[in-house]
Amino acid sequence: METPIPESRKKFFLLSGEKSTLLQAELRALVEIYDRKARFEKIHDRVFVVDGKFSPDTILKRGAYINTGGLLLTHCKMEDMERSINSIAFEDFMESSVIFSASVFNLSHKPLSEKVEVIIGSAVKRRIPDARVSLKDPKKIVIGIISDNHLLIGVTDYMSKKGWRSRRPRTRPFFHPSVLYPKFARGLVNLSRVREGEVLLDPFCGTGSILIEASLIGAKTVGIDVSMKMCRGAMDNLRHYGLEALGVINSDSLRLPIRHADAMVTDIPYGRCSSSRGLKTKDLLQEFVSQAGDVVPRGRYCVIVHPKTIELDSPEAFDVKEDHEVYVHSRLTRAVTVLEMR
Ligand SMILES: C[S@@+](CC[C@H](N)C(=O)[O-])C[C@H]1O[C@@H](n2cnc3c(N)ncnc32)[C@H](O)[C@@H]1O
Repeated sequence: METPIPESRKKFFLLSGEKSTLLQAELRALVEIYDRKARFEKIHDRVFVVDGKFSPDTILKRGAYINTGGLLLTHCKMEDMERSINSIAFEDFMESSVIFSASVFNLSHKPLSEKVEVIIGSAVKRRIPDARVSLKDPKKIVIGIISDNHLLIGVTDYMSKKGWRSRRPRTRPFFHPSVLYPKFARGLVNLSRVREGEVLLDPFCGTGSILIEASLIGAKTVGIDVSMKMCRGAMDNLRHYGLEALGVINSDSLRLPIRHADAMVTDIPYGRCSSSRGLKTKDLLQEFVSQAGDVVPRGRYCVIVHPKTIELDSPEAFDVKEDHEVYVHSRLTRAVTVLEMR
């Protein structure tokens, strides 16, 4: 029998290392979906403790920029590490015949990983004499995170891979250079705070990257593209992963052909894939945004990717909740704007 995880305990999360405000924003958005009242404590730019009623696995499964996380066991100053680790009641979190491993993430410059791993390993064995170590196939991983002069210890049983590599755009039946990478597309879907079973619309869906990531987290999806070739390609790409959209509509999104979506996430056309109506990107963005409020309800979100050089004039129907930047290459920095419907 697995030891049940109490949902009310504090959780910890370690973010991946990219330099963007998008990473923290994704974690906050995900936590907000499952517990609006959760409280955050920042330990380091990449390390957060969250006190809330949700299962850490739910967040880990969806997250794009979350490397690991789980239940918080303790956190302390480095000088107190032996005493703190030795006082953890590991037997409350692991069964008597647990197969476990210890894994340490060292965000400091001090060479302490091995020492912490050894202390964790012996502390677990002292508390649970029949526990066995397996680096290949552990059922629980005790995690240590060293940052500055701080040590955090947690436990997780979430190990599944996200499959970014296996979903690389070039491995899909239909490819176009305007495609978004799956990790980024997943991050955008999460910023929209869409829940499993709700409808997410991408009105400029191209090859379907956003539709794919939204479908994988269990949202229902609708895509629109003015190009028939893109619509067919997006459907082929979805089918490649055994997924299906509610619909992929060949239409002009400057006159949105649908009445309702719980969330909208899109990467507007610019450069080589500009609008069919020959509008400048700035005008297209403004025109599109002005009608988004007719589709997405009050209090819900619309996430728009656009070049940083093209700013969105403050629209009346929305509050700009967040603004992020993602460097792509010397000529393109993407802006990600999260709008909340008024
Ligand atoms: C930047 S690409 C989207 C790429 C997509 N996110 C992906 O990962 O493949 C923009 C798309 O908008 C489409 N588009 C341009 N003008 C449009 C319009 N007025 N209505 C609907 N789609 C349009 C283009 O055909 C293009 O596929």
